[in-house]
Amino acid sequence: MIGFLRKKQKPAMLGLALTMALSTAAVPLASPAEADTLPWMDKALSAEERANLLVDKMTLEDKVDFITGNLNNYYGFYNGGVEKYGIPALTMADGPVGVRIANPDVQDKKSTAMPAAIGLAATWNTETAEKYGDLLGDEAFNTTHNVLLGPGLDIARNAFGSRNFESLGEDPYLQSQMATEYVKAVQSNNVLVTAKHYLLNNQELNRFVSDSQASERAINEIYAKPFASVIKDAEMGSVMCSFNKVNGVYACDNEEILTNLLRDKLGFEGFVMSDYRANVSTSNSIKAGMDLETPGDPGGLWGDKLVQAVHNGEVSEETIDQSTYRILYQMFDKGLFDNPAQNNKIDAKAHGAIARQIAAESMVLLQNDDKALPLDTDKLDSIAVIGPDADNASTAGGGSSLVNPTYTVSPLEGIKNRAGKDLKVEYAAGTDPISAGDLLPGPNAVPSSFLAPSADSEENGLKAEYWSNAKMEGNPVYEHTAKQANLHLGFYNYEGFNAQSTKLDKLPTSLNSMMSARYTGVIQVPKSGEYKLSTSSYGSSKVYLDGKLVIDNTGETFGTVEKTVTLNANQKYDLKIEYKTDYPYNPGRDNGAKLRFGWEAADDVVDENIKKAVELAKKSDAAVIVTKTYDSEGNIDRSDMELPNNQEQLIKEVAKVNKHVVVVNESGMAVEMGDWKDSVDSIVQAWYPGQEQGNAIADVLFGDVNPSGKLPVTFPVDEDKTPVSSDEQYPGVNDVSKYSEGIFVGYRGFEEYGIKPAFSFGHGLSYTEFGYKNLKTKVQSSGKNKETTFEVSLNVRNTGDKAGSEVVQVYTGKLPTDVETAPKQLAGFQKIKLEPGKQQRVTIQLDSKALSYYDEEKHDWVMPSGSVPVYVGSSSTDIRLTGSIKVPANQ
Ligand code: BGC
Repeated sequence: MIGFLRKKQKPAMLGLALTMALSTAAVPLASPAEADTLPWMDKALSAEERANLLVDKMTLEDKVDFITGNLNNYYGFYNGGVEKYGIPALTMADGPVGVRIANPDVQDKKSTAMPAAIGLAATWNTETAEKYGDLLGDEAFNTTHNVLLGPGLDIARNAFGSRNFESLGEDPYLQSQMATEYVKAVQSNNVLVTAKHYLLNNQELNRFVSDSQASERAINEIYAKPFASVIKDAEMGSVMCSFNKVNGVYACDNEEILTNLLRDKLGFEGFVMSDYRANVSTSNSIKAGMDLETPGDPGGLWGDKLVQAVHNGEVSEETIDQSTYRILYQMFDKGLFDNPAQNNKIDAKAHGAIARQIAAESMVLLQNDDKALPLDTDKLDSIAVIGPDADNASTAGGGSSLVNPTYTVSPLEGIKNRAGKDLKVEYAAGTDPISAGDLLPGPNAVPSSFLAPSADSEENGLKAEYWSNAKMEGNPVYEHTAKQANLHLGFYNYEGFNAQSTKLDKLPTSLNSMMSARYTGVIQVPKSGEYKLSTSSYGSSKVYLDGKLVIDNTGETFGTVEKTVTLNANQKYDLKIEYKTDYPYNPGRDNGAKLRFGWEAADDVVDENIKKAVELAKKSDAAVIVTKTYDSEGNIDRSDMELPNNQEQLIKEVAKVNKHVVVVNESGMAVEMGDWKDSVDSIVQAWYPGQEQGNAIADVLFGDVNPSGKLPVTFPVDEDKTPVSSDEQYPGVNDVSKYSEGIFVGYRGFEEYGIKPAFSFGHGLSYTEFGYKNLKTKVQSSGKNKETTFEVSLNVRNTGDKAGSEVVQVYTGKLPTDVETAPKQLAGFQKIKLEPGKQQRVTIQLDSKALSYYDEEKHDWVMPSGSVPVYVGSSSTDIRLTGSIKVPANQ
């Protein structure tokens, strides 16, 4: 027997009973009816007993097969069931921002596209997190999935991380509180949760090779903390080990984090699965603590190879049993055997209403000069809605989290619906649509209105031909008029991963590995002068102007080559751009064409798209500009925080002619606003608000919902003014990212290093105001173990004239110790709703970890005694009340 593998002791009699009942080696194939009679199907037994019975019956081959997943395009990950044992398949869906359905036979692959996880975090409302998780759990279960691959518990260490939208922000306590409710709610639907990506998976750039090097203290206080909470408070079933290395060893091969930390320290009893082919070994990974290889066979490193490793004595059968047990235990515990997932139609309308409500709650009113918001329908006759994709609802993060929505409401539709017929709403795009090309570094793409496919064409853009080989050999596989030469294929162009504007043509996936392209036409500018033309590309790109080679960008790495040329106004120059993916082909992932034909032009070179938007804004009473970034999973982060594709210029030009400008920014990351912030009245950070984005935006703009979102990430002034702005820290040198800022992540770092952000962590305005008074702190010992609890209470009053919700935030200051601690760290928060004039006494229990630090010598938490400053406020820098709390000795 292998009872020593399991944490809880198996009842003594059970071993005997089992030997008697199931002593034959081979288990006959169980038909579904017979499966019910198998001993482990007895619901009266505990999950532990059932898992033990089953493990003991399985052969080595059965067990290895069971812990090796199966590649299956219909699921995020999949592990085939074992009929003879009545083991159901593990049918997994990606799910940090909605249930991603890959099986075309399941409800047309449609589910509710929720506001992105970063938006959920911005609600600072644990009840909302529960609602979100419940919806995901319900939709996963009713679309045949029994495992949800989410939430993303990666700390948003870098303000412009491309995958920040899948995460719950930069603060481990906020993440913990939100994730705990999310996970509990998902799992209450008989759907097992996989939290990801463990560990230090905080950048996309170089994601398969980068080595995140952080101290034990930073890992415990910051990065592992959200995982610790969902393990302790939500009995989370599974963890996904990440692609990157952690302190020199690949995460899925890393005993220090998978066993010493996760199991021995954090008490995890679930199973660890690999991210997509993140398993790098046959024996080390299972010995280090990985339990399930995903996607597994074919193409994996376990399966037969692992059976062989057992025969060779490299891996013990007990180790295989251990992993088998861990998975089975969770499957029994979370109800996967007894309540099989089903295919029942999603209630699109009811779930859409929840998505709308959460999206509206997630929006953060960053700035509201002259109380420009809410829009006053009595005073306005016309609104200009402007923005590259304000007329469609494509805005969402790309990659494995992308959801195919049940329906969509674009910002334009939402605003039109709400405005009614007396308020005229008109649209102008202002810039070309946004695509994965806009994720690439380098100067903005040349706007389509300066380009034409031929000298006599009325169309904008360039004639584009594409080949599925890198040599332009044979016939092109695709031709069209491309608005811009702004290409980003490979991972970004996989079916269902591409979140580009619906106004752009989708290129065939046959171009995803090696390809070549030729763009031809003319370029014509409105002003004579110097223009800095450029290509930013991976592979070789060449630009010919009137037949002359002006840019020759050959490189085995991604790079930009610029060339200043003089162009005369209104003269048509023949333009040809040739591009080939002739870099050393690495069949590794995320490779793919990357090309942008860009430029830098004088500020007064304004393109037709912007001019049309300016004309519209001029004749409108107010202008709402919906901006966006393209964020995606992949191998790249943005290299700066500027809004891409001329959107900054658009805002500045519109603000020149309209005095009532509201910017609604849809992004998963912080964006730079320095150049335009003061030229507009109001800024709403809308994140990626999901399928109901239009209605939710309208709810906030027109004041039907009083904004109550607060930033879950600091918005830096720009990319150089953050606590991780050195190359060694991010993106790393020689593939090593040194987390030398230690615990000073996000606002902890901004405060410690005296860096002034554009908008602080926790910031968010309301259409009303709140007053804070009468702070009291209390330290109490109670319960059998005389556990000490720390509490603050205060009065909050709605001093304005509108009902609204406030997030009361409590931060602790430096701890009474010589060890460096954060100037502020979030210790508690509560969201309350108040009618105008009403007051409420708010009591908040503090996180004891916010009064402690992790001691690397003791390998444990220490709570120093003495007085600790307590700050209570409406953001991490808008502190309204200050007090202190006395930590007694010997905690
Ligand atoms: C992502 C994971 C995802 C998995 C399965 C990977 O590329 O990093 O987050 O769960 O694919 O789709």
